[in-house]
Amino acid sequence: MKEYGDQTSSITREHIEKNMNGLTAIENSKLFILDHNDAVMPFLGRINSTVTKTYASRTLLLLQDDGTLKPLAIELSLPHPQGDKHGATSQVFTPSEHGIEGSVWQLAKAYAVVNDSGYHQLISHWLNTHAIIEPFIIATNRQLSVLHPIHKLLHPHFRDTMNINALARQILINAGGVLEMTVFPAKFSLEMSSAIYKNWDFTEQALPADLLKRPVTTLCVKCDHNNVNLYKKGVAVPDSSQPHGLKLLIEDYPFAVDGLEIWSAIETWVDEYCSFYYPTDDLIKSDIELQSWWMELCNEGHGDKKDEPWWPEMKTRAELTLSCTIIIWVASALRAAVNFGQYPYAGFLPNRPTISRRFMPEPGTPDYAEFETNPDKAFLRTITSQFHTLLGVSLIEILSRHGSDEVYLGQRETPEWTSDVQPLNAFRRFGTKLEEIEKRIIGRNRDKRLKNRAGPVKVPYTLLYPNASGHSSASGLTGTGIPNSVSI
Ligand SMILES: [Fe+2]
Repeated sequence: MKEYGDQTSSITREHIEKNMNGLTAIENSKLFILDHNDAVMPFLGRINSTVTKTYASRTLLLLQDDGTLKPLAIELSLPHPQGDKHGATSQVFTPSEHGIEGSVWQLAKAYAVVNDSGYHQLISHWLNTHAIIEPFIIATNRQLSVLHPIHKLLHPHFRDTMNINALARQILINAGGVLEMTVFPAKFSLEMSSAIYKNWDFTEQALPADLLKRPVTTLCVKCDHNNVNLYKKGVAVPDSSQPHGLKLLIEDYPFAVDGLEIWSAIETWVDEYCSFYYPTDDLIKSDIELQSWWMELCNEGHGDKKDEPWWPEMKTRAELTLSCTIIIWVASALRAAVNFGQYPYAGFLPNRPTISRRFMPEPGTPDYAEFETNPDKAFLRTITSQFHTLLGVSLIEILSRHGSDEVYLGQRETPEWTSDVQPLNAFRRFGTKLEEIEKRIIGRNRDKRLKNRAGPVKVPYTLLYPNASGHSSASGLTGTGIPNSVSI
């Protein structure tokens, strides 16, 4: 980011203090940030040369005593008019319910959501699941025999992915395709996605590592400039006394709570499976197919990342188990969490706009006059247009549907996939464990103390309910069930 000058946040203590629920001393781990600044800023000048008119955003949130997050401030930034190296020009908005300030705050939230919905579609969904899994599929098919135990382990998690990615390249992510029309970076969408791949780290895709690195922020109490210091710490902290080796700083965080149970179930299953075929590390080192698989994956499949120090060396069973657990987690649970909630959570565009077409109105302009007299009309003229709304909603409705022939986590297409008894028993235990997790998820969704499970609109969080027994009633727009693979 050096070429973009000083990108320090301009949010100060004064901006947020009045909404801190009486917390005078800033308690550690109560402030969270949704930070899209650095992802968007390098592209913002070019993005704003299209019909999109938007900002790079940072949203500061307070963790309240009831476990919910409350927005405290939104910072909207533009590249400096004298050039990128002069840093950003920023405005900070704070909550307001009534009058013109209320309308301004609503619009500020819309810009923050525009960033978030684009980031979700291009990074969390396309890049971090569809795109990054593809090299694993190609290397597996090229280097591992269909009889190889790791081929058998991973094969169900690659079902239909190459087909859907090929189709996506024809009509969705291609130049001028549907995605460019429905997310704010427009024709710079895939360039932004590719740029962010440069920060992708395979080992950070493991859920515990992912939670440990997500940003929490804190006010810089000691320094005099009083700005919010983007001290990144994660939504979890390491804690060996906890079941998954970490403590969540937001305890009622449905994705993390359900996800950690699923992550552990996958990890145990993969460990038991790999232990049967590789009782010693030497067997891993001497497995020529396995070594060629990993070599091709790191050096050619993810060739842009071949010099990264974090690649597991694939010399031990622990490395094999971790790598296969990450692959299965990404293809199944992570992808279910980011894909199947798109229509339920984002299908009402005024609540989750994908594009903005005008900047925040400035006092004294005709736009501001309209904003004062008819804020709803001004809001609708700013967010995604009617045509692009219809296109975007249709897309996420299709993406959010479960097919009737879906194969869910804990299931295989045929029961005869192996004749080895111990792996079959381990797989049965995996299925049983997933069904226990289902019961606990239902229990948590009924627990009235957990305010984030259903939220104000009372939609219970079921994206990580595995559906291990494979009820066919799970097809359609159910927002429930973890299919084995990235298939739409
Ligand atoms: Fe998808």
